[in-house]
Amino acid sequence: MAQQTDLSILDPILEKLRSRQGALVTMLQEIQKAYGYLPEAVLERLSRETQTPLSRIYGVITFYSQFYLTPRGRNIIRVCDGTACHVRSSEYIRRTLADALGLQETETTEDMQFSLETAACFGTCFLAPVMMVNSAYHGKLDPQQALDIIEGYAQSEDEN
Ligand code: FES
Repeated sequence: MAQQTDLSILDPILEKLRSRQGALVTMLQEIQKAYGYLPEAVLERLSRETQTPLSRIYGVITFYSQFYLTPRGRNIIRVCDGTACHVRSSEYIRRTLADALGLQETETTEDMQFSLETAACFGTCFLAPVMMVNSAYHGKLDPQQALDIIEGYAQSEDEN
C-alpha cells in the first residue's frame, strides 16, 4: 500500500518563510531537509499555499542539481567520474558497488540504505579515484576498498 505523505511537516516551513520575498529555493531546501526529497503532494500544496505555479516550482527544481524528486537512501554514495578519477577506473568502482548493492545505474536500494550516484570532480583529484559517502571523502580507492567502506556503513546501521 502506498504511504501517505504527511503534509503537516510543511506547515512550520510555510509559516517561517511565506512572507519572505524570493524564498522559494529556501523553502524547497527546507522541505527536502524535512522529507529527504521533494514529494509531489507537498509541492502541490506549496503551489496552492504560496500561489506559485507548479510549473515555476518544477522549473526551479530542475535548475538546481541539489533537489531530488524521488526518495534517496539514508547513505548517499557518490563516485566521482571526473577525468582524473575516470582514468583511474572510477567506473569500475561504481560498477562493483552497483553489483554488490544489486543496482543498475543511479539508484537506491530497496531497503533505502544506500543511493549510488556519480558526480563530477570533487576537487580532490590528488586522491583519485574518489568517492564520497555522505559527507566523508574516501580516496585512492580500489574496488575492494570501496566495498569494505560500504560494508562498514551497512554494519554501523545494523548496530543502531
Ligand atoms: S576528477 Fe575526481 S576528484 Fe577530481
